[in-house]
Amino acid sequence: MSKDIGVESSATFPDEGYAPAKRAALRMGVIGYGYWGPNIVRNFHSQEGSTVVAVCDSRPKELGRVRHSYPGMVVTSDYRELLAAHDIDAIAVVTPVWTHYDLAKAALENGKHVFVEKPFTCTSAQAEELIELAERRKLKIMVDHTFLFTGAVRRIHELINDGTLGNLYYYDSTRVNLGLLQHDVNVLWDLAPHDLSIMNYLIQEKPQAVVATGEQHLNGLVDIAFLTIYYPDNIIGHVNVNWLSPVKMRTTLIGGERKMLVWNDLEADEKIKIYDKGVAINSGEARYQTLVSYRTGDMWAPRVEQVEALQIEAGYFVDCILNDKTPFNDGIAGLNVVRMLEAADQSLQQKGKIVQL
Ligand SMILES: NC(=O)c1ccc[n+]([C@@H]2O[C@H](COP(=O)([O-])OP(=O)(O)OC[C@H]3O[C@@H](n4cnc5c(N)ncnc54)[C@H](O)[C@@H]3O)[C@@H](O)[C@H]2O)c1
Repeated sequence: MSKDIGVESSATFPDEGYAPAKRAALRMGVIGYGYWGPNIVRNFHSQEGSTVVAVCDSRPKELGRVRHSYPGMVVTSDYRELLAAHDIDAIAVVTPVWTHYDLAKAALENGKHVFVEKPFTCTSAQAEELIELAERRKLKIMVDHTFLFTGAVRRIHELINDGTLGNLYYYDSTRVNLGLLQHDVNVLWDLAPHDLSIMNYLIQEKPQAVVATGEQHLNGLVDIAFLTIYYPDNIIGHVNVNWLSPVKMRTTLIGGERKMLVWNDLEADEKIKIYDKGVAINSGEARYQTLVSYRTGDMWAPRVEQVEALQIEAGYFVDCILNDKTPFNDGIAGLNVVRMLEAADQSLQQKGKIVQL
């Protein structure tokens, strides 16, 4: 039977007549309090427009951690209690990838909006089904592509949109470290969603084809992979993901016709450096007279906002729900990433055969 399990409901949501100045909190239930879940709970609970009503984890130890950090917060090992609760408007699914579809589907079927971790689902068919279900029930899905809310990515987005970089040539990312080896997904599904979501957001074109190579060495799952994505207009993306690297690297090169950029996410202060460097080719009158000129101008580091990305993303989720906006990192954005990952798996199995999207 349905019941309230947390705070009293006072929200006008989702009724009409919502007044932003006096808006009531969006009430969240969070499923999964392992590695990433505490960040989700902290950011939604500290948000002005939302409160976490209850947390679910199947492991008692994790529930003990919730109780320790949030005395008085409702905890349960049975996610169905969250789904049945009238005083929960939205569910955050922060569990392993293979559980996302079932939990998100159950949440939508129970009338809850869904904030779901990356990657959205294990297959594109599952993602399509969830998108259709959410549309039918007039509910929202947001996929946690956290990096889109970092100061660095937001700044790079501005630099592309205002024409600073000029037409894009490439996006080339190195995202490597030692571990954490996952047991349910390969390194592509673990690490590449970050870059794929960033590329789709920055390049704003539909990717056309994928090539992936990689190898497995330890637990039967590919632990090092190289992924190439072809976009229209000769824009090429490349991602190097690796769980067996002796050092952690988070470095992305973005080449544009007018400027080039290095984003080192491990830098504390100057995360982004813009280089006024480039190459121009001017053809002479005769066919053999090709003049190559290199431009090597200044380098500068633009200011990058240092606010925690999840804090901004949680606020955006609340805004989208309470003000009935479609998030740009919605189910479709999540589906696009899953499609690229599926194509990458296909290509991997065929030792780097090109797979059209
Ligand atoms: N956005 C990011 O930057 C980011 C970073 C890390 C992880 N993630 C994503 O977050 C998700 C979780 O990753 P993690 O590293 O926290 O995993 P984890 O294994 O550390 O934690 C998952 C938790 O979910 C619980 N759980 C699983 N199934 C459950 C169920 N049916 N009911 C209740 N509890 C259940 C487990 O007991 C566990 O405590 C993954 O999808 C991962 O890709 C995202």
